[in-house]
Amino acid sequence: MSTTTQTQTSTKFGTTADIPVPRGPTQSNLTFFVAPEDGSKPWSLAGDNVDNPPPGVPQRNYGEFSHEVTIQDIRGRESSFDFNVNGFGTVSGVKSEEKDFNDDAHIEQVYYPEVKKLLLDNAPGAHRVFIFDHTIRRSDPNAKRAPVNRAHIDQTTKSAEARVYHHMGDEAEELLKGRVRLINVWRPLNGPVVASPLAYADSRSVPDEDIVGVEHRYPDRTGETAGVKYTEKGQWYYWSGMTNEERILLQCYDSKDGARTPHSAFVDPRTQKDWPGRESIEVRALVFG
Ligand code: OGA
Ligand code: FE
Repeated sequence: MSTTTQTQTSTKFGTTADIPVPRGPTQSNLTFFVAPEDGSKPWSLAGDNVDNPPPGVPQRNYGEFSHEVTIQDIRGRESSFDFNVNGFGTVSGVKSEEKDFNDDAHIEQVYYPEVKKLLLDNAPGAHRVFIFDHTIRRSDPNAKRAPVNRAHIDQTTKSAEARVYHHMGDEAEELLKGRVRLINVWRPLNGPVVASPLAYADSRSVPDEDIVGVEHRYPDRTGETAGVKYTEKGQWYYWSGMTNEERILLQCYDSKDGARTPHSAFVDPRTQKDWPGRESIEVRALVFG
């Protein structure tokens, strides 16, 4: 991971366009979940609790295990992946009117409607989309949110349903009778990505028993994400040199067919020290129908 905050200019390479983008399969260590030894329910601190933990409380009660995996490049065959089957899918050639990504209100006004349309166009059967948050990540050590080098899924069945109740009010019961998906639309802000790419596992290659609910303890509420145990069966992928006009759709929950993709950033061993760190935005949405 590069520590530079610079994006398009003034690396030794001039612009990222001059960097020889690493392509093809690679190997990297991903961090996996290990259940607490005492058999207790796993939890980790979240939100402001991370920087200001209650006295004497550790960050998490479960263990971690780093294991090397092979990560295949989907470049050139990206359209053969379908989030309904693989848990992740791709969209190419997407234009956006949002250029700066430095003002949340502007992002909500300009970028959210674009993501909403993208989901309605690409999730067969979808008739309604509700976007509930976004996260911008930069590799800069001073950035609020950095790439996450830990295999996880953003929600479980429990927390996806809780999202529906939380955001959809009186309509929640009725909406939950139909199909509900939770999809994260991820893109770089300074593509092509040459550092900290995102890897995702084929949903079918990671059995349910290797996916474990983890309480996410905020100061005022408790959410739930999923930790992912290491499995030899896991088939991992990335999309080399992802550009600003490309989108990865990461499905975290589907009430109907159940595909969900474990994912993690990884340190690409081919990345050189003076290459720019990755910047990205992920937008999370409830997709109905
Ligand atoms: C996500 C996610 C990590 C990253 O988009 O849900 O986990 O490093 N991203 O971008
Ligand atoms: Fe995630």
